[in-house]
Amino acid sequence: MATTIVLANRKGGSGKTTSTINIADGLARAGKRVLVVDADSQAHATISCGVLPYNLSSSLYELLLMLADGQQPGDKLLSTIIKDKKLFHLLPAKPDLAALEVEVAHKENSQTLLKDLLLEVENNYDYILIDVPPALGLLSVNGLVAARWLIIPIELTFLSMDGLAQMTGILYKINAGLNPELRLLGILPVKCDLRTNLARSVIAEIRQNFGDNNILSAVRSDIKLAEAPSFGKTIFEYASSCRGAQDYKHIIDIILTRSGGE
Ligand SMILES: Nc1ncnc2c1ncn2[C@@H]1O[C@H](COP(=O)(O)OP(=O)(O)OP(=O)(O)O)[C@@H](O)[C@H]1O
Ligand SMILES: [Mg+2]
Repeated sequence: MATTIVLANRKGGSGKTTSTINIADGLARAGKRVLVVDADSQAHATISCGVLPYNLSSSLYELLLMLADGQQPGDKLLSTIIKDKKLFHLLPAKPDLAALEVEVAHKENSQTLLKDLLLEVENNYDYILIDVPPALGLLSVNGLVAARWLIIPIELTFLSMDGLAQMTGILYKINAGLNPELRLLGILPVKCDLRTNLARSVIAEIRQNFGDNNILSAVRSDIKLAEAPSFGKTIFEYASSCRGAQDYKHIIDIILTRSGGE
């Protein structure tokens, strides 16, 4: 059964998609069977894999809509998953996904659609990584309900601390209701320049509030991480020895240990 990890932070541009794609590729390079679920209508994870969302005949949107209507996607799920672009598999998104929220909000199962969908493929993978949008709408809730582990990527700025406090509040709420199993795998500082006083003081504050165990090692700021998606490449395909790749390798080792993958 797959270990399911959601990367979430209600703050936009906090490194969710970059971390999802690169951790997925690193896990696949460690020999794991990995599925990335793009649950964001921006389709950035899909585009980062070199897939054009507009050309897709089927995506996460159609599958979730079928489930909301009481139909089982079955083979359609298997044929929607893209298997030949990367070492990991991708369940892609299209901009249509933005409409889902309105279309299924009144359904009883609206918050468990993704969980129900992934039940069908969880035996095919060792890890399933879910990339959710910044807003805490229905798609993010679906991601949090479907996952066993939560990674919160954050930039080390003063305002990020506010977002982090809100995310932990959300984790408690999800634990109390929809998903008692969800646990924090770690807070993941990204785009870090640890030479600055601000970054160091935010790290110190996170350690003080959340404990050393709840902070994953940092990903330094590296322009190569921002360039790679424009070529549809992960950092390990684009520049495997750059500091961004080294930092993600270290994080992947921690994930393999903490999530019981090894
Ligand atoms: N370590 C890094 N160094 C430099 N640039 C980075 C790094 N991590 C991410 N970026 C860049 O920062 C921007 C935001 O990152 P990303 O898209 O991963 O955030 P996000 O949380 O998924 O955003 P959204 O909330 O819109 O989904 C992107 O342009 C990305 O390439
Ligand atoms: Mg994103």
